[in-house]
Amino acid sequence: MRMIDLITNKQNKAELTEEEIRFIVEGYTQGSIPDYQMSAFAMAVYFMGMTHEEASHLTIAMAESGDQMDLSAIEGIKVDKHSTGGVGDTTTLVLAPLVASCGVPVAKMSGRGLGHTGGTIDKLEAIAGFKYELPIERFIDLVNKNKVAVVGQTGNLTPADKKLYALRDVTGTVQSIPLIASSIMSKKIAAGADAIVLDVKIGAGAFMKTVEEAEELAHLMVQIGQQLNRKTLAVISDMNQPLGYAIGNALEVKEAIETLQGKGPEDLTELCLVLGSQMLLAAETVSSLEEGKELLQSKIDNGEALEKFRQMIDAQEGDSSVIDHPEKLVQAKYQIPLLATQDGVLSEWIANEVGEAAMMLGAGRETLEDTIDPSVGMILHAKVGDKVTKGQPLLTIHSNRENVDDVMAKLQQVYTISTAAEAPTLIHKVITD
Ligand code: URA
Ligand code: CA
Repeated sequence: MRMIDLITNKQNKAELTEEEIRFIVEGYTQGSIPDYQMSAFAMAVYFMGMTHEEASHLTIAMAESGDQMDLSAIEGIKVDKHSTGGVGDTTTLVLAPLVASCGVPVAKMSGRGLGHTGGTIDKLEAIAGFKYELPIERFIDLVNKNKVAVVGQTGNLTPADKKLYALRDVTGTVQSIPLIASSIMSKKIAAGADAIVLDVKIGAGAFMKTVEEAEELAHLMVQIGQQLNRKTLAVISDMNQPLGYAIGNALEVKEAIETLQGKGPEDLTELCLVLGSQMLLAAETVSSLEEGKELLQSKIDNGEALEKFRQMIDAQEGDSSVIDHPEKLVQAKYQIPLLATQDGVLSEWIANEVGEAAMMLGAGRETLEDTIDPSVGMILHAKVGDKVTKGQPLLTIHSNRENVDDVMAKLQQVYTISTAAEAPTLIHKVITD
């Protein structure tokens, strides 16, 4: 088999076989296929696409390119949740303890984030002492004992995806639906999930800008999952404005605590109930989504979800006193409000731009080497559809530098006040096939 032939076959829209795709993935991972040939192949896929079968073969080949987590020692159906990424997306911090409090094992491996704010691990690091590097045996023990543990990636998971994603990043081939779908799904499969609930974001702050693109990505990931015998479904949710009110790592931990207390933002709470009930259904803990929502709500109301979060933090050696005293989380030196310049209704908060402003404060990272400042970020005081009056704070900047003129200048451009606007639809669709 020669890589040059496979590249030209894909250029001509031929369907590649499982064996051919495995040859490409193995060759690229081991180094016998060079970057320039893999770039050409990625570009051919970018323009010509892939069938569902090809995307499934690519997914499994990448999942098998390195270590695979064996979670069989954990009792019960392991359901993983994945979000395609957004701004101020605090759902994992809420869902892990919430779903675990319903008795479903949550063995969560999370990454560090690239982009506006950190990933789940970066957020948890805002809690003093929290340890996310656990030996696999300890991770499994904790999930069996407490039903929940959240750790960073251990071992050499999906090296093929790591290498290919980095190559795509510099060759203009990230925005390819089959490449995105197989990249995400390979990591979920290698992480040992039995069932997968996907949160596909759509809008300004997301990879997918239109409902059509998001649906195509969702259908493909669901079909890949099903082809690989994992129950998979996707919720398509809005990411035109940031999720919840908090953007920034420690600020989002506080928001997660409030949400687990039943005092969280409406949109974050709703999304957690929707995704959580899908997780409970996939884990066969409930027999309907309504029953799932009721169970989740009862765990918020009776305090068990919050206690589960405390138990998880304690078990991973973090300072769980922040649950009762969130003021003990790291705080930025300066709080500076952005004031509304006119009366009206907030009609736009451009999520990715708000996220970039958070990154300018140090809440996120552009390269994996950058360090994050866990204390900085922003708290929104109004969401799209809310009435605002001239002079009221639209958000508060939490900064460790006194002069935030650059951030202010940016933020002036990222919101719109009109005469009328509706709150956006949060959940667009659920894709199950
Ligand atoms: N997230 C991933 O993990 N991979 C992609 O290709 C895009 C988003
Ligand atoms: Ca948030």
